[in-house]
Amino acid sequence: MKWIEVNSYDEMSKVAANIFTKQLQEKPTSILGLATGGSPVGMYEELVKRQQAGQVSFKDVITFNLDEYVGLDRKSPASYWTFMHEQLFNHVDIKEENIHLPNGKAEDLAEECVAYDARIKEAGGIDLQLLGIGVNGHIGFNEPGTPFESLTNIVELTESTRTENAIYFDDPKNVPTHAITMGIQSIMNAKEIVLIAFGEKKLEAIERLKSGIINEDFPASQLLNHQNVTVIYGGTK
Ligand code: GLP
Repeated sequence: MKWIEVNSYDEMSKVAANIFTKQLQEKPTSILGLATGGSPVGMYEELVKRQQAGQVSFKDVITFNLDEYVGLDRKSPASYWTFMHEQLFNHVDIKEENIHLPNGKAEDLAEECVAYDARIKEAGGIDLQLLGIGVNGHIGFNEPGTPFESLTNIVELTESTRTENAIYFDDPKNVPTHAITMGIQSIMNAKEIVLIAFGEKKLEAIERLKSGIINEDFPASQLLNHQNVTVIYGGTK
């Protein structure tokens, strides 16, 4: 695991954007794994600027997002589909048909999970996966206790995660109770992974990851078994 300590959120965003820029320049047909949350917003903003300046293009890029809420219409303001379009997709030259998020409104959710992993595989697998980290160490929506071998699955969100994510909803009661998320193994299948975390709130999670102890109680710890992970972190001292 490669650790890069940064001094600001802005620096974290630029360092992460540099890794994505390099990936897109070296392989314009890259398969990217993308994440939602506050952590990647600055990186997406940076990538939009770079695309508009002609330094990168998303024209042949395929994306797969980590997760989506169950039961939310994709056009809902709080859906991850909306988030991704507002933060990135609406502002770059990506083709709509190359954008993938799990469908939290699928009639058969179990089938949607299997189909999502199959779509990733069929596309050739994820070249570069972006991750944030939850305060409890969750990656995607894989909460503590998730088996490391999990593939895309339906999860019940913990109260702490629902509280954390309530800011995106007009009423905390409207935070869905379940989500569909790429599993830990689905994430581990990516060729390269970048995890970003900035701020005091993430201190404990970063320290726990640094401790090197691999345990299903702390989902992110499985990343220690991956050959190509960069953690860009800061604001935690
Ligand atoms: C959500 C997402 C995760 C994300 C995490 C951290 O629960 N499902 O993928 O990493 O929150 O979010 P933030 O970056 O806002 O701290």
